[in-house]
Amino acid sequence: MTDDRPRQLARTPPMGWNSWNAFSCDVTEADIRAAADALVDTGLREAGYEYVVVDDCWMASETDSDGRLQPSADFPNGMAALADYVHDRDLKFGLYSSAGSHTCQGYPASLGRERLHAEQFAAWGVDYLKYDNCGDHAGREAVDRYAAMGEALASVDRDIVYSICEWGENAPWEWGRNVGGHLWRATDDLVAKWRANPDEFGLGIADVIDRMAAIDAAAAHGPGGWNDPDMLQIGNGPDSGQSEHEAVDVQRPLTKAERRSHFAFWCLLAAPLMIGADLTSLSTFDRELLTNERLLAIDQDSLGIQGTPDRRGDDAEVWSKRLRDGGAVAFHNRGDAEREISTHVSAVGVPAGADRYRVCDCWTGTEWETGGSLAMTVEPRDTAIVRVTPG
Ligand code: GLA
Repeated sequence: MTDDRPRQLARTPPMGWNSWNAFSCDVTEADIRAAADALVDTGLREAGYEYVVVDDCWMASETDSDGRLQPSADFPNGMAALADYVHDRDLKFGLYSSAGSHTCQGYPASLGRERLHAEQFAAWGVDYLKYDNCGDHAGREAVDRYAAMGEALASVDRDIVYSICEWGENAPWEWGRNVGGHLWRATDDLVAKWRANPDEFGLGIADVIDRMAAIDAAAAHGPGGWNDPDMLQIGNGPDSGQSEHEAVDVQRPLTKAERRSHFAFWCLLAAPLMIGADLTSLSTFDRELLTNERLLAIDQDSLGIQGTPDRRGDDAEVWSKRLRDGGAVAFHNRGDAEREISTHVSAVGVPAGADRYRVCDCWTGTEWETGGSLAMTVEPRDTAIVRVTPG
């Protein structure tokens, strides 16, 4: 780091939209403009979703003769004009590259040309870089490759959020902050399914929740540096770009219960919230889910603490997250039948010792009081989540 300026970025988990899950490699300039417009029209921008990130496949298959990245013919007005379009809507603009010779889809990437590309990004008005792990690595370790881009971004005269996409392979939570990262993928790619088949591409929602419970990375997580369980799949299904491109066997869209669990867990984990759906056809249910103020307040709580499990191992799970004025408690049903799940404030991440607690159901807004006992009835694969405040 040349100074402390980049540490002022991403004080809460970044929120926005990314093109990959909906459009995969077919993304065009028109899709990005439509997404920016839709963020405004749907109220998502007002709710806090601010980054518009173009994922893989925006670049031409050849660099210029000096090694600079060039936009593909699907971005006819170029990246500076697209950044302007996004900025004109009070949104921020993101691009993608890879810490290797090529991107995951085989386009030119940034290893060995970090400074040159960081200068391009800054000149175009880029506010966020997602930096993947594909291509030839020239024998270099991940930490070295990611540090090279971190230094390049810190050297340019623009604030750029640095999103490390290393899939959690080399425990990036141990070094992500120190190479200038503001978030780092902790897991493999999330697909639009509850569980993935072990022999197919990616992880399902429940697989990622299991992985986040297993990796013990919560201590690294907080303002300025976030574990990233991957972009949201709410609104996606069999026909989404990623499902088709990666040939994922997606038989049906996620159910409402599965979508609630997906969003509840990402907010409880204080995860970056990057929407991955086509915003021009977002359902009312999904829009209301993604703009639930009570859930977003848990995700964006200023302490930036990652939620962790208090009870696992059977079909009734309890997870909690300390908040500035209390805590959030999630009750998750992994089984096939409705069940009541109960706990007590003394067993979860809520400040103990108060005589009374106020409880608010984050789905319904219903409020009640308790001396400490908490119990919720939960549908299969669903998650009840409450905010608990002493006094
Ligand atoms: C990897 C990343 C994804 C996406 C694709 C693009 O799989 O993990 O998030 O960026 O590459 O090719």
